[in-house]
Amino acid sequence: MIVVAGGTGTLGTRLVPRLSAQGQAVRLLTREPARAQHLAGPRVDVVRGDVRDPRSVAEALDGASTVISAVHGFAGPGGVSPASVDRAGNAHLIAAAAHVGAAFVLVSVVGASPAHPIEIFRAKHAAEEMLRASGIPWTIVRATAFMETWAEIMSRPLQASGKILVFGRGDNPINFVSATDVAALAGRAVTDPSLRGQVLELGGPGNLTFNQLAAMMQEVAGRRGAVRHIARSTLHTMAWLTAAIKPALARQARAALVMDTHDMTFDSSATRRAFPDLPHTDMPSALKELLS
Ligand SMILES: NC(=O)c1ccc[n+]([C@@H]2O[C@H](COP(=O)([O-])OP(=O)(O)OC[C@H]3O[C@@H](n4cnc5c(N)ncnc54)[C@H](OP(=O)(O)O)[C@@H]3O)[C@@H](O)[C@H]2O)c1
Repeated sequence: MIVVAGGTGTLGTRLVPRLSAQGQAVRLLTREPARAQHLAGPRVDVVRGDVRDPRSVAEALDGASTVISAVHGFAGPGGVSPASVDRAGNAHLIAAAAHVGAAFVLVSVVGASPAHPIEIFRAKHAAEEMLRASGIPWTIVRATAFMETWAEIMSRPLQASGKILVFGRGDNPINFVSATDVAALAGRAVTDPSLRGQVLELGGPGNLTFNQLAAMMQEVAGRRGAVRHIARSTLHTMAWLTAAIKPALARQARAALVMDTHDMTFDSSATRRAFPDLPHTDMPSALKELLS
């Protein structure tokens, strides 16, 4: 039985049906089973749990053969943080998987490293290190920024005010990959034991700036949404002002600044060559699905 932590997320909602369609028995761990209603089925069992609570994690992993962690605490409901979810939560999942003798697939980020300027990249690195040291069979799937996540954030004001948000100057190239492609690779990582001990890094077809992404969004939305830049100075102020009262907002502002100023490019051709059957979703297709 495969336990999917994070099965209700952008990636998880694409991964769970893929696994169950292959005949795999899936147990989906969520803090709120109502969020998983659309995924429940004959082969998908939904259990309540919080990765920050080791007892609920141990209960959810009872009888598991493989566990996949597709959780994160960068943003989202419940006062989550990279420290409590990506570090401590993954530590709880890894310990419980070791206890029941399960293999473990960790979804991480391309660029995860101990000195990365974005907190979640440091927390993912810590989780990767814990997993490698755990002694259990493991696979790490690192992905670049999800097209769906960023397009959704940028297009949030489109309906109400006709605006598309761009963070900072928006001229820094960033690699975006579709969560659909990552779900296909994560599904392979879960079910193919020959991939144990490997780090698989997946990106999308090209590197795009936020300005290019906004232009594509205007094209696909079929109306000229005005682009609204959130200036770097505003992001700095936002990060500073909200650090104590809205830490998730401060994290997002800090991450946006890094994405506007650091090298976020990636060449995925080696992984694409190794897995030629993965879908190759491009940004216009992802935008059409999102905005339709
Ligand atoms: N989005 C990106 O741009 C991106 C890029 C690279 C890698 N990744 C990685 O890909 C994975 C999936 O990301 P996503 O964007 O699909 O996530 P998402 O849509 O934001 O969903 C977050 C998921 O994490 C779960 N979660 C959060 N805190 C939890 C907790 N305390 N206990 C249990 N579950 C918790 C949520 O489950 P419930 O709310 O149902 O409890 C939800 O399923 C993550 O590991 C992420 O770091 C994402």
